[in-house]
Amino acid sequence: MTQRILFVCLGNICRSPSAEAVTRALAAAAGRDLTLDSAGTSGWHIGDPPHPPMVAAARAAGYDLSPLRARQVGAADFTAFDLIVAMDRDNLAALHASAPEAATARLALMTDFAETAATDVPDPYYTQDFAGVLRLIETCAEGLLAQLDQTQTTQTAPR
Ligand code: 4NP
Repeated sequence: MTQRILFVCLGNICRSPSAEAVTRALAAAAGRDLTLDSAGTSGWHIGDPPHPPMVAAARAAGYDLSPLRARQVGAADFTAFDLIVAMDRDNLAALHASAPEAATARLALMTDFAETAATDVPDPYYTQDFAGVLRLIETCAEGLLAQLDQTQTTQTAPR
């Protein structure tokens, strides 16, 4: 079954579009079929393209963010996706607070998927470390794909 994964940050113009694009590229390279999207807990940048310095850092690392446009998380996302991955603890708290009763999606933190001392993916809108955040996102996305592989192996193992 196709896994549906939504990446969430505050503005949906730096971290979560990067997570979406990086995971899409890694999944394509691995021949894995995933439905991926990203959104913001805020509606501050609805309709905007990703932040230009984030687009530039991603392009330098081989990822194209330019087709993406920001949107806000909505109630329907909690059933439309299997997994919603928050970039930091504030995003995760906002997701828990806005989850409808009918929510079925599993909520997780991006750093749950990597062996890293970091708990949050720091916000480069404030730190200005766009390349550093991209590297952390790559590490987490690799861990996420590895975990999906394990899940699939478990699910498809002969009984
Ligand atoms: P993001 O970064 O959550 O990684 O997209 C931000 C982008 C914009 C703002 C804050 C964080 N802002 O305050 O407009």
